[in-house]
Amino acid sequence: MDPTDVGGRSSVPGLFLRYNISAMVEEGHDARSPTARRLSRKALDYTASLHFDRRLFRYDIKASAAHAWMLSRQKVISSDDARKIVGGLDTIREEIEAGEFPFQAEMEDIHMAIEIRLRELIGEAADRLHTGRSRNDLIATDMRLFVMDACQEGISAGRCLQSALIDLAEDNRDVVIPGYTHLQRAQPVLLAHHLLAYFEMLERDVGRLADCRSRADLMPLGAGALAGVPYELDRSFLARELGFSRIADNSLDAVADRDFIVEFQSVAATVMMHLSRLAEEIVLWSSSEFGFLKLSPEFATGSSIMPQKRNPDVAELVRGKSGRVYGNLVSILTVLKGLPLAYNRDLQEDKLPLFDSVDILTSSLDVLAAMLPSLVVDEDRTRAAASASHSLATDLADRLVERGVPFRQAHQTVQELVEHARREGKELSQLSAEECGQFSSLLDHDVLSIDLDSSISARNLPGGTAPQRVDAALKRARARLAAA
Ligand code: ARG
Repeated sequence: MDPTDVGGRSSVPGLFLRYNISAMVEEGHDARSPTARRLSRKALDYTASLHFDRRLFRYDIKASAAHAWMLSRQKVISSDDARKIVGGLDTIREEIEAGEFPFQAEMEDIHMAIEIRLRELIGEAADRLHTGRSRNDLIATDMRLFVMDACQEGISAGRCLQSALIDLAEDNRDVVIPGYTHLQRAQPVLLAHHLLAYFEMLERDVGRLADCRSRADLMPLGAGALAGVPYELDRSFLARELGFSRIADNSLDAVADRDFIVEFQSVAATVMMHLSRLAEEIVLWSSSEFGFLKLSPEFATGSSIMPQKRNPDVAELVRGKSGRVYGNLVSILTVLKGLPLAYNRDLQEDKLPLFDSVDILTSSLDVLAAMLPSLVVDEDRTRAAASASHSLATDLADRLVERGVPFRQAHQTVQELVEHARREGKELSQLSAEECGQFSSLLDHDVLSIDLDSSISARNLPGGTAPQRVDAALKRARARLAAA
């Protein structure tokens, strides 16, 4: 490996970390953080986090600017120094955004990188920024802000997928599919009803993200390294400036805990679990065995060897990536387990799995929302599948119940009838009145007239698949989205 390349990819495209420590020192530009100056090369490489935590630069700069203003309002530093600091921080943000920031691994982490560059840009005033704070309360602040935004992004992406589900349901409002239990055809349902089940799951997921955001919304600054700080900081001002609605009540808790990351990972795992089920149904339903869906070439891949293939790779990867997110949840739980209070460097390991889950969560929601409108439903296949396999047997039993037969007995009678039909290789609708009469005198022609549509229409109670219930559910779903 090139010794000048720490191997980290920047969140700014095309930007890699480069360093050459002896050259820098010779030129008199020692960009090493105070701790990095004493660290061995190996220890520095091992402990540096800049190649991934620079993703937090916006939050870190925002927190520093608010801190500087607050320090000057509280007369801890002069307003002149505060102005210089905030101006320098603005320049740094622009440099990073433009891919022009001179990242060097000796800077150790994003906090030191910004502070070292600030010193280069504005001189001594930069040395006053770190008054009354620590990297411990700063990183906790950055992470909370990051998670709050990630929740908001997840909510928006979740809303888009919900909207795509409703569109698909409305476009296929009359399509009947077999509903399944045990992956065996069970009872017919409207496809729209099936899709709305995922709308409901996502509705709860969005709620979970909102809950997670509200618990992440707690401002750590003022906790210092662990015990609080001996300056009269205005924590409420800081909270307002940074968009927090509450301040942390205990300084040790503020720097030591990452339960808000556990919570995010757990919500992400739950969302991905839901998405993996949707993905799995896309995989199954687009197979020749089911043939319910056709994938558009835009969202299916070919095989390098079998020319006829249209593979559901997007759906498979949603299913697969859910496994990675579960791993990320276990990762943060394990990092935190048994850690003594307060800050420990172990906490640095919270980041990569979190960034990974945030990216997987939003990209999976996005790609499914883009893919759903491209799915083509084969209505004839789904209808044929829904009417086969004696799927109206329950309805037949229900008719017998209407005629006074106790349900258990009706179930038994219809079971015998189905066994007879299977032996004869017939569907129930193909049985004659005479054949039915052998099983019950109540099984007359009227009973046998049950069809898919009457079966679906009969489930006309709140939450059922009857067309008018599904229409109302679609309306409610639309209204919920509009209100959001
Ligand atoms: N990179 C560290 C982290 O992510 C920042 C805080 C470092 N604090 C310290 N005392 N070394 O947790």
